[in-house]
Amino acid sequence: MTEAIRIERDGDVAIIVIDNPPINAGSVAVRRGLLAAIEEIGQDAAIRAAVVIGAGKTFVAGSDLREFDLPLQEPQLPAVIAAIESCGKPVVAALHGAALGGGFELALGCDGRITLAGTLVGLPEVSLGIIPGAGGTQRLPRIVGIPTAIRLIASGERVPAAKALALGLVDEVVDGALRPAAVAFARRLGNGRALLRDREVPAADDGKVAAATRDALKLGRNRPAIRAAVEAVAAAARLPIDEGLARERAAFQELRVSRDARALRHLFFAERESARHPDLADAVPRKVERIGVVGAGTMGTGIAIAALDGGFQVVLVERDDAALARGVRRIADHYAGRVAVGKLDEAAAADRNSRLTAGTDWTLLSGADLVIEAVFEELAVKQDVFRRLDAVARPGAVLASNTSYLDLDAIAAATTRPRDVIGLHFFSPANVMRLLEVVRGTASAADALATGLAVGKRLGKLPVLTANAFGFIGNRIYAAYRRQCEFMIEEGAYPEQVDAALESFGFAMGPFAVADLSGLDIAWRMRQAQAATRDPQARYVTIPDRLCEAGRLGRKTGAGYYLYADGGRGRQPDPVVRDLIDRASAEKGIARRPLDDDEIRRRALLAMMNEAALLLAEGVAARPGDVDLVLTNGYGFPRWEGGPVFLARERGRAALERDLDWLAGLGGPGFTRADPAPLLGHTPG
Ligand code: NAI
Repeated sequence: MTEAIRIERDGDVAIIVIDNPPINAGSVAVRRGLLAAIEEIGQDAAIRAAVVIGAGKTFVAGSDLREFDLPLQEPQLPAVIAAIESCGKPVVAALHGAALGGGFELALGCDGRITLAGTLVGLPEVSLGIIPGAGGTQRLPRIVGIPTAIRLIASGERVPAAKALALGLVDEVVDGALRPAAVAFARRLGNGRALLRDREVPAADDGKVAAATRDALKLGRNRPAIRAAVEAVAAAARLPIDEGLARERAAFQELRVSRDARALRHLFFAERESARHPDLADAVPRKVERIGVVGAGTMGTGIAIAALDGGFQVVLVERDDAALARGVRRIADHYAGRVAVGKLDEAAAADRNSRLTAGTDWTLLSGADLVIEAVFEELAVKQDVFRRLDAVARPGAVLASNTSYLDLDAIAAATTRPRDVIGLHFFSPANVMRLLEVVRGTASAADALATGLAVGKRLGKLPVLTANAFGFIGNRIYAAYRRQCEFMIEEGAYPEQVDAALESFGFAMGPFAVADLSGLDIAWRMRQAQAATRDPQARYVTIPDRLCEAGRLGRKTGAGYYLYADGGRGRQPDPVVRDLIDRASAEKGIARRPLDDDEIRRRALLAMMNEAALLLAEGVAARPGDVDLVLTNGYGFPRWEGGPVFLARERGRAALERDLDWLAGLGGPGFTRADPAPLLGHTPG
């Protein structure tokens, strides 16, 4: 046995306790200990059955990913499960917290599964670019059949206990004491075994298998892990289980060291690190129960919904009754819609609505622990709002701005308490998007920032800390990327070609389609505001201004970079735009040349890397991994490509230096070429 595993007894039932805090990850020590425990129990005549249970907050919540970059050490999980299956005595898995990935595979190798209400079970391996490698793809179909197994494994769904029971993934759900219930269950099994390996795979209709496969590949963007998962599950219907297991393992081993898997592990580790800030380590988040939201527009209502979903009391304040009524209606409609599609029950919707207070009276905000401002993006308006907040908010309340571009310090300066002011930059739709930039003003107190990070977590967000700088991390990198794409249409490409090249790389949408979707006028107004301070020598692409001047503001006006027929759907390249672009190039004396898709992708991605290096050097982002989290969670950068920093590291120093020289040559005057050193902190994965 190892320190991670101990055997306790309840009469003739052995209880194998997995104790590997914090999440009982299936490490080599756990596997070694389990194997030894199973062997010991098999030989002990006084033991009739066994229970496997987790100490602390959870069962095995997943495998230890730190081991995944190296050859896996023996014993590997399939050997542990094989030992359970051949030990001659029934073994019951007692699940609480989370039994995911290898943890759930371990449970599937047992004779029965009992869980505490509130437990999550599932096989989310594909989200890490791999497939279940310890029998999940062979044992799960023996319970639910091929189509449902494909659906569950390809979506990586974490299944709550009640649904798991309905599907047969677990045999029993208990409310109270798990351990005695598991012991009783083990005794009930008597001496017989009830292993999944001995069950037949239920016969499935070919049409249903085909439909599940099609949906899975589409949802999973046809990535290698999804294809392998579908194949492995389908094989369970055809092959004897041991053959199916061997194939699954081979596919798992191959995928484990694949590029997708390395990129996704890099993001996994970046995410874990994102919550840890050495200089905030001692800061205690302030207590937050009541959140105030000022401004009930697009963002304010989305933020209010996120806060209501997160269980907070919410106070929504607007400048006039009409705007307030619109916002409140939007929130009510949102919940009614969720109920209508069966995503929320009536009681939960009523509970959320009941936690919302709305009004135009600012004193409503006096009880708020955190106020988030989401009014118009104008400094004077925001400063006025913060002046008023300063007057009504209780001492110690955290005051946050959702500004996208404005100077947080200038906003904080409108108050007598700049220490309490932070930025909370949500992304639209705020109740859906996971990314949250937590902005550190010059004066922001550590515990105010810690509060922002903690509330972000409670809202189910991924909070990433950024310094107060124009565009913070995300919009700043995205602007550099879009600018490079504008250079390329000025040099010879057309918007549809640039978009297609970047969509084929994996972006959810190309930059010009995105611009049309969000509306070209916001950036136009910003360019006008900056016109006076712009470096007259720097390369300036006039195409976006010309589109705006022609009234083409994007989808909302039916035309932008594209033409939108039938109510804004379905983008079509527009000859008028081609003409406008050709003329813009001609006026600058640029001889248009064809750009191939490879050049487009390289330049767009290098522009991101270059900007990421600049803002790391400036300290806007604290760590390289944060940049990748922002791009993959807020800007449609394909997760399986890891993010710009991951790509830069993969490229390596020498090649990157050459690439950036090349990019600088194409960027023209005003382009700042970065030193790539800050990107190359340590190796990916
Ligand atoms: P919006 O125009 O939809 O909503 C702004 C709301 O604020 C309006 O309902 C308006 O009546 C209200 N308002 C204006 N002045 C007020 C005052 N003095 N007191 C109380 N309420 C007032 O704007 P949106 O899109 O929701 O943006 C709000 C903020 O969020 C801006 O700072 C914007 O930069 C930022 N943001 C917007 C994103 C987006 O995608 N729309 C994304 C991230 C941040």
